[in-house]
This record gives sequence, structure tokens and C-alpha cells, in this order.
Amino acid sequence: MTPFVTTEAKDSLCDRQQVLAWLTENVPPPRLQHILRVETMAAELALHHGLDVDRAAGAGLLHDLAKYFPPERLLSMAREAGLAITEVDEADPHLLHADVSALVARQQFGITDEQVLAAVANHTLGRPGMDALSCVVFLADSLEPGRGQTMELEELRKVAQQNLQEAVWRVCDRTLLWLVDQHRLIHPRMILTRNWAMQVAPAKPKKSEKKGTAKI
Ligand SMILES: [Fe+2]
Ligand SMILES: [Fe+2]
Repeated sequence: MTPFVTTEAKDSLCDRQQVLAWLTENVPPPRLQHILRVETMAAELALHHGLDVDRAAGAGLLHDLAKYFPPERLLSMAREAGLAITEVDEADPHLLHADVSALVARQQFGITDEQVLAAVANHTLGRPGMDALSCVVFLADSLEPGRGQTMELEELRKVAQQNLQEAVWRVCDRTLLWLVDQHRLIHPRMILTRNWAMQVAPAKPKKSEKKGTAKI
């Protein structure tokens, strides 16, 4: 089967073979397979929504460069670059891997396309007001086929075809519910992303009343 993302398409943004060689040295094989699936799904979503396929695929390929950097390296690179570091980042530096991946993309591979770099940096927590390219990479990271084939995921994949912001909102909700269930810290940026996406998404009918009420 011919891969969706061609070498020719990638060469205009970065040297795909060079990135793949670097990834082979720096991430384990299952993660590399995830990265390739994100690359493909980002390209497919971009094509579907009339966005730049080359940039989407490139951001997908570059999105997890720093995934396996140790916590101290993530923190030191983020500090050196002057990135905003929250208390949640300090407690869970892995959350910085998206922003640090964008730094690596710039430093290691000479990427200067700010939209692509933003899409890499926004792939985990999103960002309020993020553009369609960032939405595509955020969604591809969460919804690539390797994430599973549950009805919920299949539904989210359909929503991603219909409306990017609505899909971002619903993926954020799913992640936030999981974080609560797992007693994990919640990064404030994810809440801001969720609120933004919900507000700009097409209006949806309110959910029917459920038993009990939230304390709000
Ligand atoms: Fe990631
Ligand atoms: Fe990823």
C-alpha cells in the first residue's frame, strides 16, 4: 500500500529521512509508529479541511521529538527558552514535551515555519485561539488509529471530520474526565483550551438533566 504521506511532500518542510533517523535513535519503536500514524492522520485531516497537507504532516512527524527527554532536560530547555512554566509543569515536567519538541524542531532541524512550530507545541494541551493546523495535529495525536477503536473514539473521529473546534472541545472533555478519574494534575492550559473550543464550536443542545447537580 502506498503511504499517504510521500517523501516528496515532506521534503519542502524538512528532511523527512533525517528526522526519521533522529527519531529512530531517540524514541522506542512503538512511539515511532504512533508518530507515523499522527503524521498520516494529520495529513488526512488537513486534506479534508482544505489545509496545507505538507505542514500538517510535518508537524505530525515532529510533534513528539522530546517525548523521552528526562524531566530535568525538559525543564532546563524550557527555562532557557523563556517558556512560561507553571506549578503543574514543575510537578509533571513531561507536560513540557510538546513545547520542547518545538524547540528541538527549530534547533535540530531548522524548522522556521511558526505555524508548524505552534502546532507541535500545542499538540498536548492545545491553546486558546489556536489555528486550524494546531487543531488538526492536536486531534491526530489523540485520535490516530492506534489509540483504539472504541465507539467513543470512532464518534470523535467523525466529529473531527465535521468541525475541528468541536472535536477539540470534546477531546479535551474526555482527557479532563480521565485526569480526574486517575487523580492526576490538570494543566490550566487544557481548561483554557477546552473553554475556548467549546465557545467557538457550533452550538449544541444542552445535555438532559442527570441525577444530582454539580456544585456550581
Ligand atoms: Fe506528545
Ligand atoms: Fe504523540
